[in-house]
Amino acid sequence: MSKKALITGITGQDGYYLAKTLFQKNYEVFGLIRGQNNPKKNLVEQELPFVKLIEADLTDQSSLVRAINYCQPDEVYNLAAISFVAYSFYAPQITFDITGKGVLNLLEAIRLTNNLDKIKFYQASTSEMFGGLEYNRQEKGYDEKALLHPRSPYGVAKVYGHYITRNYRESYGLFACSGILFNHESEKRGYEFVTRKITQAVARIKLGLQDHIELGNLDAKRDWGYAADYVEGMWQMLQQNNPEDFVLATGETHSVKDFLKAAFKEIGINDYQPYVKHNPAFMRPAEVDLLIGNSQKAESQLGWKRQVDFKQLVKLMVENDLAIEKQFVK
Ligand code: NAP
Ligand code: GDD
Repeated sequence: MSKKALITGITGQDGYYLAKTLFQKNYEVFGLIRGQNNPKKNLVEQELPFVKLIEADLTDQSSLVRAINYCQPDEVYNLAAISFVAYSFYAPQITFDITGKGVLNLLEAIRLTNNLDKIKFYQASTSEMFGGLEYNRQEKGYDEKALLHPRSPYGVAKVYGHYITRNYRESYGLFACSGILFNHESEKRGYEFVTRKITQAVARIKLGLQDHIELGNLDAKRDWGYAADYVEGMWQMLQQNNPEDFVLATGETHSVKDFLKAAFKEIGINDYQPYVKHNPAFMRPAEVDLLIGNSQKAESQLGWKRQVDFKQLVKLMVENDLAIEKQFVK
């Protein structure tokens, strides 16, 4: 009999890739969708027709109890969150309600339905919990033991989710793992994130649909990988004998400027500067200056390794946006 997996955040980037990965592994896949008329529902139904959708919200515990009772999953992947750091400064309370307390609601739904010894639980933790080298120096890259120093309401909420997940593992023996994932991008990345914002703009500039892009801090550095590689690691964590936390990262860091340079190069432009304007609206009240991860534990224990490198990532995102944007050329 095939295993059953419940994915929260099915309409998001990682939900898409994880659902595909689990389906290929012969799972029966359930996806949690929120809202009375979620605009992304049709797209999920088209792109992931094998997913059985369940209406529920991370902030509504009884809906989560209902969802768990309905699908009786072997594995629960909690990917749902307010995941945009910039937005978390504008809406810190709802960020805590969903990204932080939402994790507790889901864990409690597992406990209240007497599933603590039946379900394996994955929590989407993040490198944003570390806070960057300016506040949290780590010479060999952040690993599972690195100190936490979140610098945004999002990061703080994720730290709560991280610790409450560990607490359910230690208190109740729940098979619960946190994957501490560094930035990962793809053709499915939301347009609000800097990589997709750049690749979309680059495609539109090439096609004559736009003449510049407005950005904030170009000096920030991130450890950028490819989302499809990272969802495989999520699954691998839940197939271990014992629940543990793992960092997934590339071990390389690049600045926003590096990303701009690589993306413009894909359309034959060597100097991106004439096309980029600074807009202070995209600066954050507190910034994470540099993230670089150390995923040696995942590599040796899970056999996980990223496949797509920085250059390939930029190329595939630009090519994808060129294909999408072409339809708007008159
Ligand atoms: P994403 O594309 O922003 O997706 C977020 C998902 O959460 C969406 O499906 C959204 O649904 C859902 N959601 C938001 N509020 C909800 C609520 N109240 N109830 C139920 N669902 C709700 O994020 P992602 O990039 O796929 O990331 C997946 C997870 O990994 C997130 O938790 C993120 O914080 C974490 N993470 C991401 C990265 C990265 O670089 N991508 C790195 C580390 C950790 P709607 O469509 O209805 O809004
Ligand atoms: N979004 C955005 N828009 N970011 C900009 C811009 C802009 O116009 N200009 C500069 N940046 C900088 C941000 O200040 C940040 O330093 C960097 O680009 C990356 O921003 P995002 O792409 O929004 O991602 P993030 O690193 O803040 O957060 C992502 O990665 C985290 C893991 O470290 C998200 O996916 C989080 O959910 C995830 O946890």
